[in-house]
Amino acid sequence: MDNYDWGKVPDISDKFKDYRKFAEEAFKEYLKKAGIKLSGLVLDLCCGPVSFGVVYKNVIGYDIIPEFIKELRKNGIKGIIGDIRELPFEDKTFDYVICCGLPLRPYKKVKCGDGFKYVPEDVNVKSYIENFVDDCIRIAKKKVLIISVPLVRYLPEKHRDKIEKVTYQYVLYNKNKFFVLKNRLSKKRRKRIEEMIEKSR
Ligand SMILES: C[S@@+](CC[C@H](N)C(=O)[O-])C[C@H]1O[C@@H](n2cnc3c(N)ncnc32)[C@H](O)[C@@H]1O
Repeated sequence: MDNYDWGKVPDISDKFKDYRKFAEEAFKEYLKKAGIKLSGLVLDLCCGPVSFGVVYKNVIGYDIIPEFIKELRKNGIKGIIGDIRELPFEDKTFDYVICCGLPLRPYKKVKCGDGFKYVPEDVNVKSYIENFVDDCIRIAKKKVLIISVPLVRYLPEKHRDKIEKVTYQYVLYNKNKFFVLKNRLSKKRRKRIEEMIEKSR
């Protein structure tokens, strides 16, 4: 990774100048809505050119597009190039795992002339999302926040008992499921979540 030829990666700072401010506000709002106060080490999957590093210091961004990772690094945010379908992290590495804008057609890297290009791939969405959620939960210690409107339709059954909150915009998993189910959720709220998931099937 450190041997990467960053000199060959185009600079995209100008292109995303306006988006930076917008993203900062949006990320703050999402965290507020989900009731999350970040702490410890945070992984931002599909981080894009800005990442949650603009609102919290200890963030590592992860994205398949080298330009985005270069942009993060220019702004003093740590970033790793990689495919979300191959997360090279040990169990419980991060306190929080966040993903804003999970693509339903993930990019894959394909050779193009002397270089590479990144093209969206048709995948089996259900199993792709199930594997992704499995992995996020595996590498998180505390919570996993995935912000994606279409995702809510594909929430995997097997992690249902870890859902702390779900809305049409995001899902928040809490690894301490007993705490969530027994102490945090009222019967009424639990029923509402169940109904929401049921409707989304
Ligand atoms: C909708 S954008 C969201 C970007 C960022 N989270 C934000 O909210 O500004 C989706 C991101 O997913 C990244 N992406 C797409 N396929 C990927 C893959 N296979 N592995 C890692 N990142 C991927 C894209 O490069 C892009 O940055």
